[in-house]
Amino acid sequence: MSVNWFPGHMVTARNDAFEAMRRTDVVIEVLDARVPHSSCNPLFESMRLKNQRPALKVLNKTDLADKERTRAWLAHYNARAGVRAIALSAKSRGEVARILDECAALAPGRGTPVKPLRMMILGIPNVGKSTLMNTLLNRRLAKVGDEPAITKMHMRHDLGPGRWLVDTPGLTWPSVPPEVGLKLAATHSIGRNAYDEDTVALDLARTLLQDYPERITRRFGALPAGADGHALLAAIAGTRKLVVKGGGPDLQKAAWVLLQEFRNGVLGPITLETVEQVAKRPVVG
Ligand code: G4P
Repeated sequence: MSVNWFPGHMVTARNDAFEAMRRTDVVIEVLDARVPHSSCNPLFESMRLKNQRPALKVLNKTDLADKERTRAWLAHYNARAGVRAIALSAKSRGEVARILDECAALAPGRGTPVKPLRMMILGIPNVGKSTLMNTLLNRRLAKVGDEPAITKMHMRHDLGPGRWLVDTPGLTWPSVPPEVGLKLAATHSIGRNAYDEDTVALDLARTLLQDYPERITRRFGALPAGADGHALLAAIAGTRKLVVKGGGPDLQKAAWVLLQEFRNGVLGPITLETVEQVAKRPVVG
């Protein structure tokens, strides 16, 4: 599943973000802790490096992610020059409050009325950027730039004397590699129009069988050794009595069940990629 999904308004949003970054001291990049690599937009990284800005990478939805894998991802990102990485849940006020201190530490000398600390927040869709902004500002904000007509709106929010934060629209990138697209579809960062739900569920099923077999057994019953993604979907259809008209397992509904249960955290804390797996992938481009 190759995803070539980069609507015209995202081109405008990308150019606007690049311009805004020139007037920024620290870039806050929100990632999904369940897919810390796949949700990391390479466009942001190249913009940031061109502009030579430090980054705070926020691995959000940490309540849904595998704690051990989160630790490894934090160590991975914290080893990069100019990068600080933290994990949190955007719904937790106490955890979100850390962000401002971390940003201040990344831009020493900023944070006064004369030299304000200028922060900018970026993220691909659905990583929880709006939730984080609402928690940080302690109020409900309208989403920035989900409609083409308002992508130019970079909302600036005052965060007390000498610091402000610019919000930007959720932004993907052109030519998302298939293995990344599948992960982003599983976490719902890529809209339903861009992918085939059955393919996404099959990929998720394979990953879960490989990395979290005990969770699968606990939730859907034991599967024979060597069972593949199809076998898992058939088992789900069996245990949930999902049957198509005329008989036979309803694999489409089973796919939907698996995706929902993963997304809602019903299967337990899960991270779909490890630092080692990503390191082994061939470098493209
Ligand atoms: P976005 O602006 O980046 O597009 O994402 P948004 O904040 O709208 O969040 C997308 C979904 O992720 C929302 O769920 C939101 O509640 C959920 N979310 C955000 N941060 C966290 C977190 O730290 N932990 C968990 N478990 N969920 C988080 P939704 O189902 O669309 O809406 P809702 O009914 O949950 O509000």
